[in-house]
Amino acid sequence: MKFFVDTADTKEIADLAATGLLDGVTTNPSLIAKSGRNFIEVVKEICSLVDGPVSAEVTAIDYDNMVTEGRKLAEIAPNVCVKLPLTMPGLKACKTLRQAGIGVNVTLCFSAAQALLAAKAGASFISPFVGRLDDIGQDGMELIADIVEIYGQYPQFETEVLVASIRHPVHVVQAAKLGADVATLPPDVLRKLVHHPLTDKGLAAFLEDWKKTGQSILGR
Ligand code: G3P
Repeated sequence: MKFFVDTADTKEIADLAATGLLDGVTTNPSLIAKSGRNFIEVVKEICSLVDGPVSAEVTAIDYDNMVTEGRKLAEIAPNVCVKLPLTMPGLKACKTLRQAGIGVNVTLCFSAAQALLAAKAGASFISPFVGRLDDIGQDGMELIADIVEIYGQYPQFETEVLVASIRHPVHVVQAAKLGADVATLPPDVLRKLVHHPLTDKGLAAFLEDWKKTGQSILGR
């Protein structure tokens, strides 16, 4: 499973990229607004921090302007993946940009039918939002199961399932069990994945016992 980080905070991205665990980055207009920075500049900087795909979202809602914005975003760096909303103009723009060899992440997916259309439009990634479905009393993970099952029926589909709107580590584990290709995580959720109290407790005990031996591996 690939891990993307869902943020436009370049300090966080640099920090997480240094762990070697990061496969890409996703942003959206809300995350760009939160960064308080110029969109093009921040995307350029993010692209220099990671080798993998960096999703940058268009803000146009009509086909022509989506394609124009998408082409402009794709010029920022070779690893830009243009994010398009799951609307009819978005799907049409997806087809056009994919035919031009540009990576596309179709976002704001809330149903299996929508995901099916994104795959038919040749999307590189489909982004179903699990947390936002949970928020309204639906089961976000059920949607992931449906999409993974449907895409599995059609080997010609090349679209990767990118689980978005993740709120906690359980979402990540559930998505991995279902075979989702990618999880995009807020930085704090990615960091939470590493923690277990028994790891901390066990490490403290090992170090305490080691101290008693009076030895040092490096001989200092
Ligand atoms: O970037 C898309 C998605 O991950 C947003 O998540 O937490 O705003 O629902 P959230």
